[in-house]
Amino acid sequence: MISPSLLSADFTNLEKEFKILNEEKVDFIHLDIMDGNYVPNISYGPGIVKSLRHLTEIPFDTHLMIERPENFIEEFVKAGSDIITIHPMTTKHLDRTLSLIKSYGKKTGLALNPGDSLDVLNYNLEKLDLVLIMSVNPGFGGQKFIPSVLRKIREVKKLIEERNLDTLIEVDGGVKLDNAKEVLDAGADILVAGSAIFKKDKTRENIKAFKEL
Ligand code: DX5
Ligand code: ZN
Repeated sequence: MISPSLLSADFTNLEKEFKILNEEKVDFIHLDIMDGNYVPNISYGPGIVKSLRHLTEIPFDTHLMIERPENFIEEFVKAGSDIITIHPMTTKHLDRTLSLIKSYGKKTGLALNPGDSLDVLNYNLEKLDLVLIMSVNPGFGGQKFIPSVLRKIREVKKLIEERNLDTLIEVDGGVKLDNAKEVLDAGADILVAGSAIFKKDKTRENIKAFKEL
């Protein structure tokens, strides 16, 4: 499945970008929320997400790179988020925050940075609909894929299979047409791609090329 990251879209013409995403039937739309605190960049917040909701019925895959995400879950639910992914270090009460997302009937995701170990999955995996494996350090689009992450994808896949779960693996950062196959072979179910998808006059053909893969 493919989840284009809106971060690289043309923000002066989002209506046009959404038209392409709708027509090409992407599986999810990846929304990167950055607070300038947990990550060294600021993107956009729930107000923008809410204003985009009427443009599509495609599920909003919301990646929260913000401190204290528990304070914003309700707002993102109201804005129309379908999957809400958080980073474990951003909340003091991980289990409680995941429960909060679930209490709204939304899908839970947990993101692992390139340097994070899998330990946090041990007691949380059963609660997750999705594990987001970061293949760049979070904060910016257009960074280079970190290859050591391929082993991590395989290890997470193994863990999910050992426990007989249907948790999805999403891989985010530096995914391009020329490494997508490797990432899928390692066990990814969903590819996030921003800069490899949104390009002037090429967005539609880029989506098609990813889908063909
Ligand atoms: C990085 C974000 C990514 C980013 C991906 O912090 O989480 O979703 O937008 O962009 P590309 O595909 O350009 O690496
Ligand atoms: Zn992301």
